[in-house]
Amino acid sequence: MKKQLTIALSKGRILKETLPLLAAADIVPAEDIFSSRKLIFDTNHSHIKLVVIRATDVPTYVEYGGADMGVAGKDVLMEHGGAGLYEPLDLEIAKCRLMVAGMKDAAPVEGRMKVATKFVNLTREYFARQGQQVDIIKLYGAMELAPIMGLADRIVDIVDTGNTLRANGLEPMQHIADISSRLVVGQPSMKMKHALIQPILDQLQQAIDARR
Ligand code: ADP
Ligand code: PRP
Ligand code: MG
Repeated sequence: MKKQLTIALSKGRILKETLPLLAAADIVPAEDIFSSRKLIFDTNHSHIKLVVIRATDVPTYVEYGGADMGVAGKDVLMEHGGAGLYEPLDLEIAKCRLMVAGMKDAAPVEGRMKVATKFVNLTREYFARQGQQVDIIKLYGAMELAPIMGLADRIVDIVDTGNTLRANGLEPMQHIADISSRLVVGQPSMKMKHALIQPILDQLQQAIDARR
């Protein structure tokens, strides 16, 4: 029997941009993912399944072998730390930036700075690299609200158009990293299922190149 392959997809804004790339690699879900409550989907190949999960859970699934490969934002991968994962492809979708932001024209912070974010690990590392010790406040969304309410001096969050910052009286202050979505492969899967995975990587790479 042919080896099985499971691909973990981030639900939310990445999913729509991921499906055309998968289709270019001839992987098509057997039913409409968006109108289904299913979490696991058959595809046009009997040996390939898709699981659709929270973006932040994708590296965890792939790390522990719950999926062989996955698609996740670089922000999520930086936060996860990348243990057990190869990152062979930049899919060049969902491009944005990871930024430090604060209230427009905010005065410099005296004493220890409070930073609100959902990316606690990468935020700690970023400020440590700058030689700055900060207090990190973990939030799960709407980081932009934290400085307004006096919860934090700064936030670390994704910025795309800048509309969310502007609409809330904030401004970008420091650029941490350029972000796009990546294909990740579990290290044991890459070894054990290389013959299945490599042609998919090649076809995805072709599709990415064709868009440039
Ligand atoms: P979540 O619910 O975890 O925020 P999203 O679907 O909003 O999930 O985001 C998934 C990924 O898309 C993020 O990890 C990031 O890489 C990217 N992303 C998030 N916000 C934006 C944005 N405003 N513009 C472009 N890409 C974004
Ligand atoms: C993301 C991100 C910012 C916003 C940036 O939020 O966390 O708030 O988009 O995009 P912009 O610069 O184009 O305004 P999202 O809409 O994903 O909300 P959530 O993750 O907090 O649910
Ligand atoms: Mg989001």
